[in-house]
Amino acid sequence: MRIERPRGTRDFLPDEMERRRAIENLMRRIAESFGYREVATPTFEHLELFTLKSGEGIVEEIYAFKDKSGRDLALRPELTAPVMRMFVNECSVMPRPLRFYYFANCFRYERPQKGRYREFWQFGVELIGSDRPESDAEVIYLAYKILKALRVRFTLHVGHVGLLRSVLRDVGEKDRAMRLIDKKDWKGLEELLKAEGKQHLLDVVLQLSEAESVEEAREIYPDFDYSHVERVAEILESLGVEFRLDFGIARGLDYYTGVVFEMYAEGLGAQKQVCGGGSYRLAKLFGGEDVPSTGFAIGFDRVAEVCEVEVERPKVAIVVGFGDHKRAMKVAEIIREAGVAAVVDVMGRNVKKQLSFANSINADYAVFAGEEFDRGVVTVKDLRSGEQREVKVQELNELFG
Ligand code: HAM
Repeated sequence: MRIERPRGTRDFLPDEMERRRAIENLMRRIAESFGYREVATPTFEHLELFTLKSGEGIVEEIYAFKDKSGRDLALRPELTAPVMRMFVNECSVMPRPLRFYYFANCFRYERPQKGRYREFWQFGVELIGSDRPESDAEVIYLAYKILKALRVRFTLHVGHVGLLRSVLRDVGEKDRAMRLIDKKDWKGLEELLKAEGKQHLLDVVLQLSEAESVEEAREIYPDFDYSHVERVAEILESLGVEFRLDFGIARGLDYYTGVVFEMYAEGLGAQKQVCGGGSYRLAKLFGGEDVPSTGFAIGFDRVAEVCEVEVERPKVAIVVGFGDHKRAMKVAEIIREAGVAAVVDVMGRNVKKQLSFANSINADYAVFAGEEFDRGVVTVKDLRSGEQREVKVQELNELFG
């Protein structure tokens, strides 16, 4: 019986995994160069961690289940809430700001399509302890640098949820209105506002989401303090970051309180959002002090789809032992010590078949370990150039090193 994998999940073969590891390593390197350190949280959490403030959109998509004791648990749909839970429980006395990063799988019960999976990976950061524009600018710059280093072609939009929240402050179903704005469902928003007798706000929302500068936004809606977002923009400009102000960004998650940003990549079609983030206050909700934070998550699978990265494949040698498996194993160990992967026959194949296998796995060398090994000598064939020569075993290190 053949068993298919569940819908919306993926398998990764070695070539793809090597490419993904190269991308992941580059992301880690850049995050670490900003002083971020890796954290990890469990794959599942108590369901309420996500129902408290993530918003209806996410809650509908949660993989929730009961364990054998009847506890309500959920596979994590994202990592901001888990990281903040961990912060409140275990890190609240650590010196601030805290700079954490993570690379982990997330689960959302969404309608699967290209770029949208039920299990997907996020690379993200949370900067905990500051609500200053400098910290928003830092995380935006970090995400920007990562996508640039991966040669993704993308646009960066920066906004502030406080502005739309202020416009909608007297609307009863504010969170639902924000979700409609996030989906650009103007028809739905019009109906919602009409039902509350506030259809005049539709125009303000539409105009603000079109505004391209703080001056323009200020003219449309003067009743808001733009200084924070102005300062973030100023820092980003000084760093040479290309972005546009976009006050129409509402974000799908409900916990954001200040600056928000999104990045959209070329070449992905409908699922083009490769990064989302912003500032929020979740620590208090999880029983801690009211500590401000800011962060982002990059959709790793989407980035992997469009980025360019150099994949360094480790060199591989195939060791031919001429029927003496123990000898082949000994030589293989010496080669591994030298930093080259060594593969030994486990199929009982003759020399010709071993070489043809070496060819099929694209091996770099064939090392022939015949009886001359007892004299401390093997023959190394470079499978790329065809060059072949006898080498002293002690010199393998130099040859491969
Ligand atoms: P999010 O926008 O929900 O934000 O997700 C971040 C990124 O994950 C998205 O921009 C997208 O690239 C990717 N993503 C989301 N759903 C899927 C899916 N079904 N398949 C493939 N990729 C997907 C967050 O999760 C926030 N926790 C980000 C954050 C961190 N905000 C502050 N700190």
